[in-house]
This record gives sequence, C-alpha cells and structure tokens, in this order.
Amino acid sequence: MVGTLRALAFASAILGAFADIPKCGPGSPCPAEAPCCSAYGQCGVGAYCLGGCDPLFSHSLNSCVPNPTCVSKTYAMNSLDGIQDIGKYLGDSSKADWVASGKPVVYNNQALLLTMAPDTVGTLLASTHYVWYGKISATLTTSQGKGVVTAFIMMSDVKDEIDFEWVGVDTEHVQTNYYSQGVTNYNNGGNISASATQSTTHTYTIDWTPDQISWIVDGKTLRTKKRSETWNSTANRYDFPQTPSRVMLSLWPAGLPSNAKGTVDWAGGLIDWNSQYMQNGYYYAMFKEVKVECYQPPAGASISGKKSYIYTDAAGTNDTVSTVDKQVILKSLTATGENPGNDTTKADSKTAPESIPGVSGAGGRSDDNGGGSSGSGNSTSGSTTGGSQGFTQGTGTTKSGGDRLQRLESGSVFAGLVALTAVLLL
Ligand SMILES: *[C@@H]1O[C@H](CO)[C@@H](O)[C@H](O)[C@H]1NC(C)=O
Ligand SMILES: *[C@@H]1O[C@H](CO)[C@@H](O)[C@H](O)[C@H]1NC(C)=O
Ligand SMILES: *[C@@H]1O[C@H](CO)[C@@H](O)[C@H](O)[C@H]1NC(C)=O
Ligand SMILES: *[C@@H]1O[C@H](CO)[C@@H](O)[C@H](O)[C@H]1NC(C)=O
Ligand SMILES: *[C@@H]1O[C@H](CO)[C@@H](O)[C@H](O)[C@H]1NC(C)=O
Repeated sequence: MVGTLRALAFASAILGAFADIPKCGPGSPCPAEAPCCSAYGQCGVGAYCLGGCDPLFSHSLNSCVPNPTCVSKTYAMNSLDGIQDIGKYLGDSSKADWVASGKPVVYNNQALLLTMAPDTVGTLLASTHYVWYGKISATLTTSQGKGVVTAFIMMSDVKDEIDFEWVGVDTEHVQTNYYSQGVTNYNNGGNISASATQSTTHTYTIDWTPDQISWIVDGKTLRTKKRSETWNSTANRYDFPQTPSRVMLSLWPAGLPSNAKGTVDWAGGLIDWNSQYMQNGYYYAMFKEVKVECYQPPAGASISGKKSYIYTDAAGTNDTVSTVDKQVILKSLTATGENPGNDTTKADSKTAPESIPGVSGAGGRSDDNGGGSSGSGNSTSGSTTGGSQGFTQGTGTTKSGGDRLQRLESGSVFAGLVALTAVLLL
C-alpha cells in the first residue's frame, strides 16, 4: 500500500549525465528557462509542460498547458491508433487519445500489451483528456512475478490519485488506494479479492464523484471511500482526490535493486529477468478495453468554456479549477505554456532544458519515511516533496523522441527482440 506515484526509478544509473536537471517541489518552483515541473519533480520545456505538468511547482500558473476536458468514450484497446509517443505529442488531444512512454504492443488485433523487457522501465499510457469526476473502467489481465506491478490509476497534475494496483506475487487481490496532493498516508489502502488476475479478464471500475470514490470489480462495489471521512484538520481541507485527472495504465518494475527497499519488498522482491512469466522477451499486462463516462462538473464550479481545465490558484483544490476555452498546442518541444509558439531548434543539447520527462533521470520515491528525501533510494533520484513523489516511467532511451511504438503480432519473438534492441540502441 504505497503510492503508485513512486519511483519507476531507472535512469539515474543509465543516464547519470542528466543529474543536473533542475528539481522542483514545495518551496522550489522551476526557473524561467525550464519553467515546467514534471510529475517526476524535474524542470523542463516541451512535454514537461503537457500532461502531468504540476502547476503548483512550475514557474507560473501559466507554464503548464491547460488540461483538455473530459470526453466520454469507449476505447477498444486493439490497435496503436490514437496512441502517440511522448516524444511526438505536442498537446493536440483531438489527434491522440493516449500518450505512451515505453512500448505498447498490439496483440492479435484484440488487445494491447503493456510490455516490460529487461533494462526498461516498462510502459505507461496516459490519457490526453482529463476526467473531472466520472466512471472509469479498464478490462484487463495483469502481469505476474516478483517485483512486477500492473497499475490502472487516475492521477491529477497536483497529484491527487486513485489507484488500482496489482503486485505480481499476488494474483488473487487488487490493492486500492487514494492520495491527496501526493501526501503519503499509509492508512488509505485497501485490498480487494479478485481471482487469478493474470489469467482471468476482469473489469475494474473507479467511480469517482465529488462525494465518494467506489472501487468496483466486475460490477460489484467492493470498497467505497466518502469525502466526508477524509477531513484533515491540519491542512484544513479534505484529503480527497478533487482535481482533473488523467487515466493511466502502466506496467512498471518496482523490484529493481535501485529502488527503495520498501518498494521492492512491497512488490514481492527483485524482478527475475529470466522468468517463466515473460514471453517474447518481456513481461506484459493485457488491456482489452477502457471506458470513460464523464460526470457533470461539480455544482459551484467556475465554468466559462468547454475546452480545458486550468488552475487559478496555487492551492490546487477543487474550487481553484476553472473550465475555460483556452486550448494550447505547442509548436515544438522547446515551447512552453508561457511561450507555446517557440520552435527554436536546440542548438546546444548540453545546455538546453530537457524536453521529455521520464527519459532522463528522476526516480527514487520517498519510501517508508513517508516524505522528504528519497529514502534509501539513489542520491541522484528525484528528491522533491513529501509523499509518493518520484514517479518516472520512460523508455530508458535518450531524448530521441523517435517512433518507439511498435506493432507486433503475438508469437513474433524475433520482431520483439529486434524492436527492443532498436529501443536500447537509440
Ligand atoms: C546510485 O546509483 C549509482 C549508479 O547506479 C551507483 O553507482 C551508486 O552507488 C548509487 N548510490 C546509492 C547511494 O545507492
Ligand atoms: C494489501 O496486501 C499487501 C500485500 O499482501 C500488503 O502489503 C498490504 O499491507 C495490504 N494492505 C491492506 C490495507 O491490508
Ligand atoms: C494532513 O495534511 C498535512 C499537510 O498536507 C500532512 O502533512 C498530513 O500528513 C495530513 N494528515 C494525514 C492524516 O494524512
Ligand atoms: C469543493 O469541495 C467542497 C468540499 O470540500 C464543496 O463544498 C464545494 O462545493 C466544492 N466545490 C467545487 C467547485 O467542486
Ligand atoms: C525558445 O526555446 C529556446 C530553447 O529552449 C530557448 O533558448 C529560448 O529562450 C526560448 N525563447 C523564448 C522566447 O522563450
């Protein structure tokens, strides 16, 4: 029962050279030249300013691009249509449903595999549209094995979070959790029985209203948390997820030696990279369908448009979210929310700010100490704030932004290996 927003730590080892990327967190916003604070607590431009950009720790409230509003839709996860690599997406949510880090693979035109091969940090899909309350379902089978974690979560840019998580050593349960503004609270978790999650397709649903969250499996409500139960008198607010959130689907390596011990233990130990549970050279989770049903905006919400959600105040609470018509598509990966038209070609890649979060460092979640530093994690790790910071999921490649999405029919071991090698050589 630790947060999903945690170290998918990987790259400090591979890409130690980027250790001097500016960090961001409470009390240390990003500098003007790299204004956008990524979900991993690092500053940059380009994709740093898109989904996951934290307005509270960015240079200004305008640094992050406004969040595209909720769209009710059923996504048949059976092709790569609508999935864009994080190195290519510039914010046009009319052209892409999902932004991918890592390697999603089409399985027999029936499902999408989120894959995790050795020396990668797995795969993450994040929706381009945000949900501000709604009913979100994912139909899937999980991965299995020590240290391997499958996740279906909702996460806002200020790190409100609602989770379904499966640790690969326990395929008879799903762990549920929620967080408010990334603050770790180990009393928020709850385990739900779900049989043979690695081989039985179940539909997991998060039903999220301003007043409560229900976690539902195959139509049965198995856990409900009411907002009224979450009052925090120190913070003087409800510690209840209340801000527009992206749908995130992921398979990630909690059991890496570079991760904090608490993370590794929670996930059942270190990953075996020669496991019987791998196929075609990778671990995989299989997603068959995702369905988003948007609810009406909350009573009293500030609404002056339809296209995007913005934050109007650094409190990052429900009443500081406005729905407006501002839509921003970046001209290039050197642009930012403050200067969306910038298309300066990076002249000097040594001094230019980073433009694709998750491919160059961060990592190290704060662990059992519940906040502050990166615990027993690595010194180069993202050392930002309290709570479950430090979520990093990328390809482990450099910032090529190349087309890393691959199509692969089942059984094509060779194609898989070629693709993987190509990724590692980028
Ligand atoms: C951090 O990671 C580097 C590279 O893997 C390693 O050499 C170093 O010993 C690690 N430091 C700690 C404190 O684990
Ligand atoms: C859920 O199960 C995991 C793994 O067995 C355990 O670490 C965790 O404490 C459990 N959480 C709750 C709330 O019981
Ligand atoms: C209440 O909020 C404060 C400030 O965010 C936080 O440090 C504390 O952990 C919260 N209390 C609980 C029980 O979560
Ligand atoms: C925000 O949440 C409070 C409860 O904390 C509620 O009374 C208020 O109506 C909500 N406002 C919006 C706009 O959701
Ligand atoms: C445009 O981007 C380049 C490269 O990141 C940067 O050096 C320059 O300052 C930016 N221009 C403006 C006006 O933001």
